[in-house]
Amino acid sequence: MFRNDLLAGKRILITGGGTGIGRSIGRRYLSLGAELVICGRREPVLAEAAESLQHETGGKVAFKACDIREAAQVEDLLGWVWQNGPLHGLVNNAAGNFIAQSETLSPRAVDAVLGIVLHGSAYMTLGCGKRWLAEGRHASVLSIITTYAWTGSAYVVPSAMAKAGVLALTRSLAVEWGGRGIRLNAIAPGPFPTEGAWERLVPKPELAAAFEAKNPLHRAGHHDELANLASFLMADETGYINGEVVTIDGGEWLQGAGQFNFIGGMMSPADWQKLRPKK
Ligand code: HXC
Repeated sequence: MFRNDLLAGKRILITGGGTGIGRSIGRRYLSLGAELVICGRREPVLAEAAESLQHETGGKVAFKACDIREAAQVEDLLGWVWQNGPLHGLVNNAAGNFIAQSETLSPRAVDAVLGIVLHGSAYMTLGCGKRWLAEGRHASVLSIITTYAWTGSAYVVPSAMAKAGVLALTRSLAVEWGGRGIRLNAIAPGPFPTEGAWERLVPKPELAAAFEAKNPLHRAGHHDELANLASFLMADETGYINGEVVTIDGGEWLQGAGQFNFIGGMMSPADWQKLRPKK
């Protein structure tokens, strides 16, 4: 759906780019002409991803292991990225999450999720931003959040807290840095099945089926659909979009929100007929 050179000349860093949604976005960016840098905690996973993404697309992928919870590791990574050339985009994709009854969460469990999602995204964004501002470079940050960043959600409380924080980071810096050429946007995906997320969040087949059943489109999202949106938001051609969060969830969160949404399944054709004005 895009020109093949939509992202040509851009070098883009994707956190958690070796697996899941980050890898799918990276694949599309490469096919649109971008050069990629991916980071994650596990070097062998990154090496395999870089190799196969290059093979699939013919693009260029660099990789380096980094635990984004550690500010010093983020600084090392960014120093290395900048040594090897300019950067034009950052995708804050890396996340940590699991379902749990909140009263069972230990402080370390809370810290694990907040560390990856909130602190990691902040270290990355601030680290890239200060370098871009110093060199006067126009650049774009895209953060992957969720719809429960604004609704909250039971059973994933640290994730909801952290994603809400990343949304606040996005909107705040969009204003503070927009005039200096850096725009920040977010994507709020609904269910896009990945191995990492599904083993922690959807541990029973019945839950996966329920995710599909409650969605107005009766299906999960396709990675290509998300990658298309991520490309659209990263492109210079949409450069006036700043501080925005775009939802891509098939209408899932609105389905849960509208007061009368639930009644469709409880009203028979005869029930509806009875309610129509008598002629
Ligand atoms: C309760 C848990 C737990 C669980 C871990 N902990 N899993 N507590 N229930 N299921 C606790 C541990 O007991 C420990 O606390 C603390 O969390 C840290 O756990 P570790 O395993 O030592 O940490 P670590 O190896 O760093 O793993 C981090 C992680 C893990 C976040 C816990 O899940 C992870 O690596 N996730 C990365 C991939 C991922 O989550 N992808 C999904 C993202 S999806 P104690 O006190 O015992 O030491 C997403 C949006 C989804 O974010 C939207 C869906 C629709």
